[in-house]
Amino acid sequence: MEPSSSPPPPSALPLPGLLGSPFGDESRPRILVVDDDALIRQFLEDQLTGEGYLVSTARDGEEALAKVAADSPDLILLDVMMPKVDGFEVCRRLKSDERTILVPVVMVTALTATDQRIKGIEAGADDFLSKPYNRLELFTRVRSLLKLKRHTDELENAETVLFSLALSVEAKDPYTNGHCDRLARYSVALGKSLGLHAEQLKTLQRGGVLHDLGKVGVPESILLKPGPLNDMERAVVREHPAIGERICKPLKSLRMVLPIIRHHHERWDGSGYPDGLAGEAIPLTARIMQVADIYDAFTTERPYKRALTQEEAIALMREETAKGWWDPRLVEAFISLLTNGALGA
Ligand SMILES: [Fe+2]
Repeated sequence: MEPSSSPPPPSALPLPGLLGSPFGDESRPRILVVDDDALIRQFLEDQLTGEGYLVSTARDGEEALAKVAADSPDLILLDVMMPKVDGFEVCRRLKSDERTILVPVVMVTALTATDQRIKGIEAGADDFLSKPYNRLELFTRVRSLLKLKRHTDELENAETVLFSLALSVEAKDPYTNGHCDRLARYSVALGKSLGLHAEQLKTLQRGGVLHDLGKVGVPESILLKPGPLNDMERAVVREHPAIGERICKPLKSLRMVLPIIRHHHERWDGSGYPDGLAGEAIPLTARIMQVADIYDAFTTERPYKRALTQEEAIALMREETAKGWWDPRLVEAFISLLTNGALGA
C-alpha cells in the first residue's frame, strides 16, 4: 500500500513542547510501530519522529512483544497481517497482561475489512486506522489516545501515592509489620473459597493494603501508645475509617474499595463503628476483611500481648463470634482454610 501523499494539514505541525523539549527524551511520548513492510515502517517513523515522538519499530509480532517489554511504549500502531504472530494475537496478549493492558493499541486494517475490525475489537484494540494512511487521521488518533494514556498514567500515579501512604502508616508501627500484605492474602483466600469473582478479589487485595490508610490522620502518640487508650483517644482512632474513605473517594478507580475502608470496624450485632451497621447490611468485602484482620491481630505480637497460636486464635474467634461480633459463616469458612493449611505459613 502506498502512504497517502496529501499536503500536511495544520494538525501535522509539531506538537507544542515536544520538539526541542527542554526535558529531553524522557518527556516525549514513545510510539511503537509494528509492520512487516519496511517502507511503511520507514514512512511512519519519519512522520511521527517529525511530530516530536520517540519512535521504535518492529517487523513482526514476536519482535513487537519483545520491544513492548523493553521500551514500555505509550502507544502501539499495530499492523494486522504479519508473519509468525499476527496483530490480533499480539493485541490479545497485550490486553490480557496487567502490565500492558492500559497501553493503547491502534490496529491498522485494510480500508473495507469489517471482519478484521470486529476481530480487532474482540482482541481489545482501542482504535483503528486504515491503509493507505491519511496523515490527518493518523495524527488525530495518535494525539487523542496519547492524551488518554497520560490521564491513565496520572491516575496510576495517584493510586501509587495512596498505596505508598498506606504502607508508610503501617511502617510507623513495628508491631504491625507485614499486616497489610497478610490481610490482602488472607482476605483473597477467603473470598476465593466463597466463590467471589475476580473483580471482588482484586478489591480485597487492594482493601488489604488501604483499609487503615485513615490512620495517617491519627497522631503517633495515640497510634503507638503501648497501653490501653482512654475515651478521647479511642474516639480519635475511631475516626480512621471515615478519614481513609475521604482520602480515597476522589479516585473513581478505588470506588469498590471504599466500603471496606469505611466499614471494616462494624460488628455483626451492630455494636461497631462508624455507622453501627449490622448483619448483611455490612458489605461482604468488609466482613471478609474483618475476619482476616482479627486473626492477624490475634496471631501477631503487640507491646501489651504475646502472639497467640493458631489454635488459641481460633478459640478466641469463636468466642467473639458467639458474642455476636463477627459473621459466623465467614469465621467458620476462614477456620476451615486455616485448618486445611490453605493459608500457608
Ligand atoms: Fe482499622
